[in-house]
Amino acid sequence: MNWMGPFHEGKPQLQRDESQRSIGIAMQTIMLAARAMGYDSCPMIGFDHEAVAKLIRMPAGYCMGPMIAVGKRVKDSWPKPGQLSIDEVRIVDRFPG
Ligand SMILES: Cc1cc2nc3c(=O)[nH]c(=O)nc-3n(C[C@H](O)[C@H](O)[C@H](O)COP(=O)(O)O)c2cc1C
Repeated sequence: MNWMGPFHEGKPQLQRDESQRSIGIAMQTIMLAARAMGYDSCPMIGFDHEAVAKLIRMPAGYCMGPMIAVGKRVKDSWPKPGQLSIDEVRIVDRFPG
């Protein structure tokens, strides 16, 4: 574990990237676990982060991820506008060109 400190030291952007990676993984785990338990969920970033930080007494040096609402679905989700094909989102080895 000795490399972890120096790897992140003095690199606030990398530290923040790292926290967002971890948050994303944790979020998806929560959402999948909720689904497995028969619940639905919705991630949201559209809230006042500063007000929530104050409410929960978030110490300096922490950063906040999205909220996840978890509950029983009352209606089906709206139809999705479509999905990009796998060829449009997958890059194998390197970008073309
Ligand atoms: C990290 C993240 C944050 C999101 N934040 C918001 C948000 O603040 N407000 C919002 O309307 N949708 C937000 N969304 C999208 C919703 O979670 C949801 O997918 C979207 O509203 C589509 O809902 P629908 O399935 O009912 O169409 C966010 C999605 C992600 C992945």
